[in-house]
Amino acid sequence: QIDRKVADLMKQMTVTEKVGQLHQLSGRQFTGPTSSEYAAKLADIRAGKVGSMLNVIGVADTREIQALALQSRLKIPLLFSLDVIHGYKTVFPVPLGEAASWDMDAIELSAHIAAREAAAAGIHWTFAPMVDVARDPRWGRVMEGAGEDTYLGSQIATARVHGFQGRKLGATDSVMATAKHFAAYGAAIAGRDYNAVDMSTQQLYEVYLPPFKAAADAGAATFMNSFNTLNGVPATGNSMLQRDILKGAWKYKGFVVSDWGSVREMVPHGYAADLSDAAVKAINAGSDMDMEGYAYSQHLEAAVKAGKVKMATLDDAVRRVLTKKFELGLFDDPYRYSDAAREKAVLGDASHRAATLDVAQKSIVLLKNEGKLLPLSRDAKRIAVIGPLADAQRDLEGGWVVQGERAKVVSILEGMRGHAGKAEISYAQACAPGCASAEGFEAAVATASQSDVIVLAVGETWDMSGEAKSRTDISLPGQQEALFKALKATGKPIVVVMLAGRPLVFNTIAEQADAIVYAWFPGSEGGNAVANVLFGDYNPSGKLPITFPRSVGQIPLSYAQYSTGRPVTDEKNVVYKSAYIDSVNTPRYAFGHGLSYTDFNYTGLRLSSPAMSGTQKVTLSFDLTNSGKVEGTEIVQLYLRDMVSSVVRPLKELKGFQKVHLKPGETRRISFTIDRDTLSFFNSQLKWGAEAGEFKLMVGSASDDIRLESTLTLR
Ligand code: IFM
Repeated sequence: QIDRKVADLMKQMTVTEKVGQLHQLSGRQFTGPTSSEYAAKLADIRAGKVGSMLNVIGVADTREIQALALQSRLKIPLLFSLDVIHGYKTVFPVPLGEAASWDMDAIELSAHIAAREAAAAGIHWTFAPMVDVARDPRWGRVMEGAGEDTYLGSQIATARVHGFQGRKLGATDSVMATAKHFAAYGAAIAGRDYNAVDMSTQQLYEVYLPPFKAAADAGAATFMNSFNTLNGVPATGNSMLQRDILKGAWKYKGFVVSDWGSVREMVPHGYAADLSDAAVKAINAGSDMDMEGYAYSQHLEAAVKAGKVKMATLDDAVRRVLTKKFELGLFDDPYRYSDAAREKAVLGDASHRAATLDVAQKSIVLLKNEGKLLPLSRDAKRIAVIGPLADAQRDLEGGWVVQGERAKVVSILEGMRGHAGKAEISYAQACAPGCASAEGFEAAVATASQSDVIVLAVGETWDMSGEAKSRTDISLPGQQEALFKALKATGKPIVVVMLAGRPLVFNTIAEQADAIVYAWFPGSEGGNAVANVLFGDYNPSGKLPITFPRSVGQIPLSYAQYSTGRPVTDEKNVVYKSAYIDSVNTPRYAFGHGLSYTDFNYTGLRLSSPAMSGTQKVTLSFDLTNSGKVEGTEIVQLYLRDMVSSVVRPLKELKGFQKVHLKPGETRRISFTIDRDTLSFFNSQLKWGAEAGEFKLMVGSASDDIRLESTLTLR
C-alpha cells in the first residue's frame, strides 16, 4: 500500500523535487557550521527543495515550518530531526552511564521516554542511538555509546532502537531512530575526533559492525554515516559499507543520512575533486540524504542529467525517504506530532523523573569500598560534602541536552541534604568546576576536619566529553587530585564521587580513597541517585562497560585483547615479554567490574554435556548465592575463549550476561544456553562459523574476576 503511494507520488515529481527530498538543513540551533542564511532556507522549503530539517524544536516552531513545506507544489511534509541522545526535557544519564546498568529494560524505557517527550514537541526522528564500539577513552564521544564491547553494545543497540521507535513506526509517542555512525567512527586514530580509521576488515566485521547489524535487525528506520575515512575511503562515499554490506548483505530498507557536511568533507579528505564530485560519489555509494552539505542541492540534478548518477539511484534514495514519511503518517496529517496540548501534558509527566532516578541508580558503579565504608550511616554523623562538582547542576546533565530544565537538576549536595536524616551535612566547594586554583582548599580542609566522613565530588565538567572533546590527558582535570591529597591529610575517611563522560585516570585516588563511586553524568535526578547509593537506600549494581586504564600510555586497552607469543604470566618477571618497563599491563578497573554492598558466591558449575556437535545446544549452569546481609543485584557474566582456531581469537569474549536480584542467603540456579552461534566467528574469508576444537567457558563477576571455568568441545 505504502509502496504504491510512494510510486504514485514519485511519478508526479520533477528531478528538482526529488533532489529536494534528499536535502536536509539545520534550523535555528546549530550542531555544526552552516553556510546558508535562515531566510534562504525558508524560501527553499516553500519551493519544495528541502526534505528534512534538523534542530527545529517545539510544537510552535515545527508547525510554523511545516506550514511552509505545505505551500510547496506537491505539499510533501518535512521530517523534523534532532539529537535526542539521552533525554529531551527529562535528562537521563549519558549513554555510557546507562550502559553500565547492563539493564535492557531500563535502557529501553529511557529511550522511550526521550522519544515520548521529543515526539510531543514535534520531533519525528532522533539521531540516536550511537552504536559505535569505542575502546579509546581519549575520544570524547565514548560518552555517547555503549562502551567497548560488541556483545553488550549489540544488546543495547537493540534496546535503544526499540525504545525510541516502539515496535512499529508511526505512534506519536515514538520517533525514528538512527544507528550511527556507520562505520568504525569509534576507532579514530589516537582518539582524535573526525580522524582517519585504519583497521583490518576482520576487526570491522568482528567488533565494529555487529551493533549496527543488531540495530538494523531491530528495525532502525535510518542510519547515519560518518566523518571518518575507513582504510582510505570516507565512510560517506564508501559503497562497500553502504551498498554492499548495509543495503546489500543486510537488505536494509531504511535510508542513510550523511553526518553534518560529511558529503562536502570528502573534498578536504582528498577523495572528491569538488562539491559536484562529492555529490556523485556519496549518492552512488549509498548516502541518501545530505545533511547541511549543499552537495546534493547544488549538484545532484546536473549530475543526473550528465549521466553521472543514474535516475534509478536517485529514485531509490527518494523512495526510501518518502516511505518513512508515509510510515510516520505525515501524509495523513503533517502536524500529527505537533500538538500543543500533548506537548504540555507529556513534558510535565512526573513519572519521567522517577524513571530517570531509577536509571541513574542502576548506572552508578561502586569501584572501591575499603573496610565497607559505604553505605554511610545516618546516625550522629557529620558528613562534609566537598568539591567543585558537589553543588553543580549543569555538569550532572552531560552533553547533548536539548530542553533540560537546569534549575530542576538535583545536585549531589541537594541529594545528600534531602536524604541525610539525622546526619549533619556541611559543605565547601573548594574550587570552581575545572578546579584551576587551590585558593579555597584551606576552607574546605577546615570544613572537612570538623566531620566524621568526607564526600568529595570531582570529575570532568559536562563540556569535557562529547563531540570534538578528545583529550590527550584523561586524568582528573585541574587541581582535583591535589584537593584530594589535602583532604586525605585530615585523616578522615573519604568517599570520592566521580562525574565524567569517559573513563578517567586517577591513580592517587584509586590507591588512597576509601570508597569510589563512579556516577558518570547521571542526569536530572543525579543527586538523589548518588545520595541513595551513598546511604544504602539503593545497593549499587552497575558494572563498567569500558576498561579504565592506569595511564594514557596503555590505550587502547580492552579486556578482549589477543594473546601474544610472549604473554605476561607473572608481572614481576617481564623481561622479553609483551610488557612495559614502567607499568603493569592490567587496567586500573577491568571491563565488567563493579562492587555491591553484599557478596555473591558462585558454585557448582555444570555443563549439560562436555561436548556438542551440529546444531546441538549445551546448557551451562551454576548456583549464585547472596552470601551477604543485604539484598542486592549481581550482573553475572559469561566469557568464552576459542583455544585454537584458524584466526586467533581474543583471550576472552563476552557471550552472555544476566542481572540477578537476590535476598540475603538466597541461592538461584543460573543457566546460559550455548549454541553453535555462540562459538562462531568470522574466519579469514569473513565467513561466520564455528570450528571444531576446545572452548574455555568462564563465568564471573567481572572480566578479571572469573569465579568458575569449564571446557567445552565442539566436534
Ligand atoms: O547527529 C550529529 C552527529 O552525531 C555529529 N554531527 C552532527 C549531527 C547532527 O547534529
